[in-house]
Amino acid sequence: MALKSLLLFSLLIASIAVPLAEAQLGGILGPLLGLLRIQGILYCTPNGNISVNATTTPVFPNALVQLQCGGNVVSTATTNGSGLFSILLDPVNFLLSTLVSGCKLVVNTPLASCNASLPSVGGLVSNLQFIGNTVAGLLNIGNLIPTGFQFNANVN
Ligand SMILES: *[C@@H]1O[C@H](CO)[C@@H](O)[C@H](O)[C@H]1NC(C)=O
Ligand SMILES: *[C@@H]1O[C@H](CO)[C@@H](O)[C@H](O)[C@H]1NC(C)=O
Ligand SMILES: *[C@@H]1O[C@H](CO)[C@@H](O)[C@H](O)[C@H]1NC(C)=O
Ligand SMILES: *[C@@H]1O[C@H](CO)[C@@H](O)[C@H](O)[C@H]1NC(C)=O
Repeated sequence: MALKSLLLFSLLIASIAVPLAEAQLGGILGPLLGLLRIQGILYCTPNGNISVNATTTPVFPNALVQLQCGGNVVSTATTNGSGLFSILLDPVNFLLSTLVSGCKLVVNTPLASCNASLPSVGGLVSNLQFIGNTVAGLLNIGNLIPTGFQFNANVN
């Protein structure tokens, strides 16, 4: 009986002590901020993917990339001159599991805008995948990337 309550007591202390230590550390260093980052490069190819010969694949600049969840646009970004886009999200508002299971990237800027030989209707769609966390200073960033774009003629 005594042993059992001692065990319970130490379990209790342990469960209090860990958050306390974290809170104290946070008090000294400032808060550890979480961030979710969706990043990728869009290529000027029929499917937005990099071609096998990576060195010669042109990128798709100035394309509007939408993050859609349940059919709603929740965030947008524009690709820069290197075809790179980056969407930052506050994990307070977004669950990683929801992003992976219920959201997708949609590009409805026509491919023709980067290469006139490519379609002028339709767009690119990709699901998301989580590739891990990176810690940058006090930021803990959860990184997501497109699983791979596919051309969809019905995107508008
Ligand atoms: C990739 O492109 C380079 C430069 O144009 C060329 O030298 C090389 O043969 C290509 N490789 C393949 C596998 O097509
Ligand atoms: C696009 O953004 C990336 C990351 O910020 C940067 O390294 C790259 O130089 C940018 N490209 C252009 C053409 O601005
Ligand atoms: C434009 O797209 C066509 C069809 O995919 C391709 O053959 C051509 O090489 C592309 N041009 C450039 C400049 O990338
Ligand atoms: C683009 O790349 C993704 C991931 O590698 C692949 O699943 C998809 O089929 C590719 N799209 C096309 C049209 O090849």
